Amino acid sequence: MKKVVSLMVALAGLGFSAAAQSPIALNIQLDKPSGKISPHMWGVFFEDINLGADGGIYAELVKNRSFEFDEPWMGWKKLENGVEGTYLLVNDSKRKGNKRYLRLNNAGNLKLGLQNEGFRGMGVKAGGAYEFSLQYQSTAKGMTIHVELLDPQNKVIGAAELPLDPVASWSEAAVKFPVDQTTEKAKLNVWFTGEGTLDVDMLSLFPVDTWKGRRKGLRKDMVQMLADMKPGFIRFPGGCIVEGRDLANRFQWKKTVGPISERELIINRWNTEFKHRLTPDYFQTFGLGFFEYFLLAEDIGATAVPILNCGMACQFNTGEVVPLDELDEYVQDALDLIEFANGSTATKWGKLRAEMGHPEPFHLKMLGVGNENWGPQYIERLAIFKKALNEKHPEIKIIASSGTDPEGDRFDFLDDKLRAMNIDIIDEHYYRPPSWFLSSASRYDNYNRNGAKIFAGEYASHTTRPNGPGKSTWEAALSEAAFMTGLERNGDVVEMASYAPLFGHVDGWQWSPDLIWVDNLQVYGTPSYQVQKLYATNRGTAIIPIMRDGESVSGKDSLYASAVYDESSKELIVKVVNYNSQPKKVNLDVVSKKKLTATAQLVTLANPDLNVSNSLEEPLNIRPKESTVVYNGKKLVQTFAPYSFTLIRLPTK
Ligand code: AHR
Repeated sequence: MKKVVSLMVALAGLGFSAAAQSPIALNIQLDKPSGKISPHMWGVFFEDINLGADGGIYAELVKNRSFEFDEPWMGWKKLENGVEGTYLLVNDSKRKGNKRYLRLNNAGNLKLGLQNEGFRGMGVKAGGAYEFSLQYQSTAKGMTIHVELLDPQNKVIGAAELPLDPVASWSEAAVKFPVDQTTEKAKLNVWFTGEGTLDVDMLSLFPVDTWKGRRKGLRKDMVQMLADMKPGFIRFPGGCIVEGRDLANRFQWKKTVGPISERELIINRWNTEFKHRLTPDYFQTFGLGFFEYFLLAEDIGATAVPILNCGMACQFNTGEVVPLDELDEYVQDALDLIEFANGSTATKWGKLRAEMGHPEPFHLKMLGVGNENWGPQYIERLAIFKKALNEKHPEIKIIASSGTDPEGDRFDFLDDKLRAMNIDIIDEHYYRPPSWFLSSASRYDNYNRNGAKIFAGEYASHTTRPNGPGKSTWEAALSEAAFMTGLERNGDVVEMASYAPLFGHVDGWQWSPDLIWVDNLQVYGTPSYQVQKLYATNRGTAIIPIMRDGESVSGKDSLYASAVYDESSKELIVKVVNYNSQPKKVNLDVVSKKKLTATAQLVTLANPDLNVSNSLEEPLNIRPKESTVVYNGKKLVQTFAPYSFTLIRLPTK
């Protein structure tokens, strides 16, 4: 007896636990799909939080380019003073959306100058070209602008001259110039010479090399991270930002389209939200507005999912509501948005879309009314939206909020009401610890399947909440992967899912964890990003039952699994999470009339240490490793590594 025990101890020490010794049998009914996977199942949630848009994906390098921040000089420094009145900040109420501009009164042909600090500096690359532009008016002759980029030691690393032709009304001037050094903390000097009065506004610097080479466009590396995920949809513009701290600062899509210089900026609600992460220079300039969001969605092949304000400000803040008899404007915004996205170019808003460069419709199919709103006041307002939208646009599916939490009185109240109203899609949010994600892998197994579909619209596994910033560890990601087997298994009721938030800037975040981290030059995906990407790029088209003793594989022995069939590639795709510190041996018994080819592709994310994460320095600690495996017939034997997420792609004939 003593000998047997010591042999077992020795084997365990070598990693041969009893669990690894006795295979777990899973049965896969390949010919009996239990439902369809929605084509936009796995998507992304975009919000301008953590410098996600301004200072992030929107590639503008100048902060407060139009002097419209509450403190008009924020981000700027005068380089030469001149006499009193030399720099005059004019506030002209006739200028739509952009009232302030700078008047330079240069009586003595002085060299006047401004310096802009950028968003935590400006990221520029050696060999890259940058475009400086501004709007100006001046009838004086001989006005010239000299721009220079400086590195942190004040060395000039790029410069250009921009002579300004005399003009009677506001005009644009621009110049491109190369940069010969890489730094993520450059700053911009703008020098003005020439005698007379010069009005300037919209002082701007963009890399020429943007996503798809669009002038004044988006940061290429950040969009690429999204494109690589092949997301089924993109939800925008949030998040709480939709609601605003008060109604005056809610997101109004109409103020984000048309000429960029006329888009009226507002304070970003994350500017002041967290006392421990105040971000006084955080504003929404709307250079990334609704047109650009639709374009982004189209570029990356994602369905656009706009979320609109429902007549309520954030209930964590003021909770202001618009009186019901004043809700029309909000409802009209929704109707007009559909026209902007889908209407013919003969309509008012369709025409604007065409003028902005996209005569073809954007094919909007769904929209959200409200984000994390709750209570009877929400239902009352939603009902008015629903009536108008259903009457005028029965083709548009409505997404409605089930509040901030996935359970509790607030949730139950909303879930009942939304189902009674025949809402198309219910938006559920869960920011929870890893244990919740693991124990909720079967959440949707017995969900109400009559009527509303589910949009897991915001979720993330929070390892240290609420006492500190959550870290995007392998523990968090693996628990999400386990939970997502449950979303996939129930793809007939779970229509869409997206992790949140999407981006975090290492020098400017308010909320953590996030899916993708950036600084001014680099970008990396967290372990959660790797999980999301594997799901989204291995979506499949049909749900294939995978069972253990007739039950779903949702946590017994810390094993989780789901399977799909992909009609176009004719592959069976099995996803398995082993949430054990020991390897797990599994017999996968595929029942099918189809022939399986012998060689399957295996993709694995694994690490025995759950605390491991990715970082700017080590971006690929957790990354997919690919291999092939040869199976014999339809009984596949596979050992899954400790703390691993494995994907098996098995071609069928
Ligand atoms: O994703 C961050 C925030 O979390 C969103 O803005 C909000 O909807 C949720 O509370």
